[in-house]
Amino acid sequence: MSKLRFLTAGESHGPALSIIVEGIPSGLEILAEDVNHHLARRQKGYGRGARMKIETDRIEFLSGVRHGYAMGSPISMLIRNKDYENWDIVMNPAPVDEINPDNQKKLADKFLTRVRPGHADFAGTIKYNQQDVRNSLERSSARETTSRVAAGGIAHKLLKAFGIRVVSQVVQVGSVAVPAKDRGHISEEDFLRIEESELRCKDTASAAKMKEAIDKARKDGESLGGIVEVIAYNLPVGIGSHVHWDRRLDGIIAQALMSVHTVKAVGFGISFDAGILPGSQVHDEIQLANKASDGSNYEHLTNRAGGIEGGMSNGEPIICQVALKPIPTLARSEENSLKSVNLQTKTNDVAFYERSDVCVVPAGGVVCEAMMALALANQILDKFGGDSIQETLDNYQRYLDYCKTR
Ligand SMILES: Cc1cc2nc3c(=O)[nH]c(=O)nc-3n(C[C@H](O)[C@H](O)[C@H](O)COP(=O)(O)O)c2cc1C
Repeated sequence: MSKLRFLTAGESHGPALSIIVEGIPSGLEILAEDVNHHLARRQKGYGRGARMKIETDRIEFLSGVRHGYAMGSPISMLIRNKDYENWDIVMNPAPVDEINPDNQKKLADKFLTRVRPGHADFAGTIKYNQQDVRNSLERSSARETTSRVAAGGIAHKLLKAFGIRVVSQVVQVGSVAVPAKDRGHISEEDFLRIEESELRCKDTASAAKMKEAIDKARKDGESLGGIVEVIAYNLPVGIGSHVHWDRRLDGIIAQALMSVHTVKAVGFGISFDAGILPGSQVHDEIQLANKASDGSNYEHLTNRAGGIEGGMSNGEPIICQVALKPIPTLARSEENSLKSVNLQTKTNDVAFYERSDVCVVPAGGVVCEAMMALALANQILDKFGGDSIQETLDNYQRYLDYCKTR
């Protein structure tokens, strides 16, 4: 069983999203702002659509936090969907008066029988034996990533107590790629620049070209994907394990990142190049450290592995490349829409358009950070235990002291 668990619930246009995070040690300081800060970061980004202008996501703690400190009990959070006021008939959890003509019209307008290629609509509607595609659309929507970012906000706060930092940057949008020299590292100074950038990209020249590409995509009724790099700094050696398939850190992180909407590939370090280059250009040589700043006695000459060997952290930064597909909803006229089917009439048809973004790669990076933070926070709690944050920190410090003796 995971030490840190979280569950999310809520439909895209339902009354609210709710999140339960369980396993946070007591005594950790947690303020609403620690979470709201990350929710605001997810809502930014060039290429987002109208929904982001409607919602200003903020959490309300319902349990588990008292006077700004975790109590050790499950932390539950609520995020209200502001847009629900426009959907209260269509998405009301209670039965609605279907005789009322106003209600009838609202329900009919939002009843969907066509499925959108690239979404969960097709498989979800059949699997759950639904007539209205909306029953699958509402939960499969990436609105759910708001809840992940909320849970991730708490994981980030926990990791901060251990000096561990999880950050990300956009390194590609469509065919516009950041030069190799700007990849693989994000200094604290870089990160400030990334946070200021609408593209979450530290190279301003690339960011300008990415913007142009997104503008063109919008004009052409297209959407664009890309690649984000997610990096974790300061993870000590020996997190994860080689002894079982499901304890390998790379597998655990890959699963967390791969579960994010639109993510289609996850790589570590030099990623796919590891399958192309000869061994001497893939493995990272080790030497006695020239007094590394973290006090370690050893260092790797390169970090092509992305900080993980044999399913364990090796003391170098964890570096992941994450590829996100272009979002499936395309703003096109019916005659240019993607071909699809109507599950009710069983006829060929075209995809329908429901308000949508054009490029979600910058926001996707914030979601990937949250998932990496959650995966690593769980690993820290799993290895170092403790019911109070002080107990966990004491155990952690003892391990760091031990590592210095090796
Ligand atoms: C932050 C974020 C926002 C998204 N917004 C949209 C959107 O506005 N329109 C859309 O069609 N897809 C959007 N997506 C992508 C879909 O949710 C996703 O492609 C779909 O659920 C199918 O899942 P899959 O891509 O993992 O197969 C978004 C994804 C993320 C990560």
